[in-house]
Amino acid sequence: MDLELRTTEQSDYDAIATWIEDATSCSRWAGPLVPFPFSARELPELLSVKGGSSYSLYDSNNNCIGFGQFWVVKQGAVHLGRIIISPEARGFGAGRLLCNKLMAKAMQEAGAARVTLRVYRDNAPALSLYSSLGFSIIESESTDNLLLMSASNAE
Ligand SMILES: CC(C)(COP(=O)(O)OP(=O)(O)OC[C@H]1O[C@@H](n2cnc3c(N)ncnc32)[C@H](O)[C@@H]1OP(=O)(O)O)[C@@H](O)C(=O)NCCC(=O)NCCS
Repeated sequence: MDLELRTTEQSDYDAIATWIEDATSCSRWAGPLVPFPFSARELPELLSVKGGSSYSLYDSNNNCIGFGQFWVVKQGAVHLGRIIISPEARGFGAGRLLCNKLMAKAMQEAGAARVTLRVYRDNAPALSLYSSLGFSIIESESTDNLLLMSASNAE
C-alpha cells in the first residue's frame, strides 16, 4: 500500500473532525480531555501534548486517511496516542502501516526503544491491532476500563 506519513496540517484536522461521530468514539480515540462536540479549528490545541509530534497518513491521491501522535515519556521511551484511520479506509491494513511508520519515526526522532500506549479494553479492533504488532498488556498499570500496553521498538 502506497501510504505516506506527513506533518499534520489544519486541512487534516478538518478531515479528522468529520470521522468522530459521537462522544464515545471521541473518548475512545482521544481520551477524556477532548470534549465532544469540538470544532476542527480547536483540534490542534485540544490534542497538543508537551513535547509531542503529530503525523497524518496520506494515500496516493493525497487524501488524509489517518492520524497519530507520539510523545517522549522518558529517555528512550515514547507513548503513542490518538491513532485513527478514517472510517472508509479501515480494514485494509492502513492502521497497521500507520503504527509501524509512527514507531519508526519515534525511533528516528527520539531513539525510542520502548513504546507504550493506552487502549480501552472494549476497543476490539485497536486491541487486536496492537497485540498483533507485539504490544503486551501491563496489567499492573491498567484499570478495569483502560489498558496500558508496551512493546520494544525493533525498527
Ligand atoms: C483501530 C484502527 C486504527 C484500526 O485501523 P485499520 O486500518 O482498520 O486496521 P488494519 O486494517 O491495519 O488492521 C490491522 C489489524 O487490526 C485488527 N482489526 C482491524 N479491524 C478490526 C475489527 N473490525 N475487528 C477486530 N480486529 C480488527 C486486526 O488484528 C487486523 O489485522 P488482520 O487484518 O491481520 O486481521 C481503526 O479501527 C480506528 O481508527 N478506530 C477508531 C479510533 C480508535 O479506536 N483508535 C484507537 C485508539 S487507542
